[in-house]
Amino acid sequence: MSRQHVDHREIAAFAQDRVNLPSDKAKEYRAQAKRLRDKLEGYLRDHPDFSLKKMLLSGSLAKGTALRTLNDIDVACYVSGADAPEDTQALLDYLAEKLRKAFPNFSPDQVQPQTYCVTVSFRGTGLDVDVVPILYDGDPNWYGNLVSQEDGSFLRTSIPRHLEFASVRKKRHDKDYAQVVRLAKFWARRMKSEQDGFRFKSFMIEMIMSKLSDDGVDFSDYPDALQAFFTYIANSDMRERIVFSDYYAPSSVPSTSDPIQIIDPVNQENNVARLYDSGQADAIVEAALDAGDAIDSALRAPTKQETVAYWQKVFGPQFQV
Ligand SMILES: Nc1ncnc2c1ncn2[C@@H]1O[C@H](COP(=O)(O)OP(=O)(O)OP(=O)(O)O)[C@@H](O)[C@H]1O
Ligand SMILES: [Mg+2]
Repeated sequence: MSRQHVDHREIAAFAQDRVNLPSDKAKEYRAQAKRLRDKLEGYLRDHPDFSLKKMLLSGSLAKGTALRTLNDIDVACYVSGADAPEDTQALLDYLAEKLRKAFPNFSPDQVQPQTYCVTVSFRGTGLDVDVVPILYDGDPNWYGNLVSQEDGSFLRTSIPRHLEFASVRKKRHDKDYAQVVRLAKFWARRMKSEQDGFRFKSFMIEMIMSKLSDDGVDFSDYPDALQAFFTYIANSDMRERIVFSDYYAPSSVPSTSDPIQIIDPVNQENNVARLYDSGQADAIVEAALDAGDAIDSALRAPTKQETVAYWQKVFGPQFQV
């Protein structure tokens, strides 16, 4: 019958083997980021007026949602001071110059401004660290203007609050929230590689999962949780505003004509999906319909071979049982 060949257990095993960043790697990369952060703190003790105020692990490694294919470590760096430039390009050059000052045992070529971040490369092992500047004016909740990794614009947001927001949902579902996020990110990653122009940012996926969590969806059965995710996307047509009440009243969100509206849970004026047009929204809906159909068929397929073939439509040929 239905779940005989592939059930929750098989999806969980696939996640462990192929989707998740192994925990020893995650530990190693977090330690790498911490060494940079400690170095900056050491420098700040001797130079309290230095304009780089703090480094903070952000992104998937901080949230426990990293995929095995992780290829850089995201670190946010709070920059303040009268001479900090407000132009993105100039700010990145400024950040690189200050990082070289704070990390004198790195050679200058190990600290390189990129389009929207500054990369710190380690000799030998480890991944590169992408340092993303946040223009910071001393806000106690660590709000600041984050340089968008999509277009270099400034986004007012708070990384510590994002981490707190994620941890509320993670606690609610033990390990399952982060696991279902990683499975959906794995699916989206595959769609991106298969379909030119397909976009679906990790943060958007997390916000949809958070909405489902707040609506009472159970994440403990992975086929069902994935099906809930794809069904929500298909039913909403990606045109339903997603908004949270953790840090502001949903009624305070200003109106916008953006086709996808996934409002930053910590700033009602920031639509996380601002750069998505309706063609891109439609492509996400189409892909979710296909994935949802495939899971339905997989859960009904009579033979193991057919079942696996349907799951491969979702996760690609890497999916094996
Ligand atoms: N549009 C945005 N507005 C506000 N904050 C954002 C926005 N985009 C990204 N961020 C912040 O940057 C963090 C990392 O972004 P994102 O979720 O896209 O990548 P990630 O979690 O590192 O996933 P990936 O595995 O794809 O690298 C988010 O958790 C959030 O704090
Ligand atoms: Mg990342």
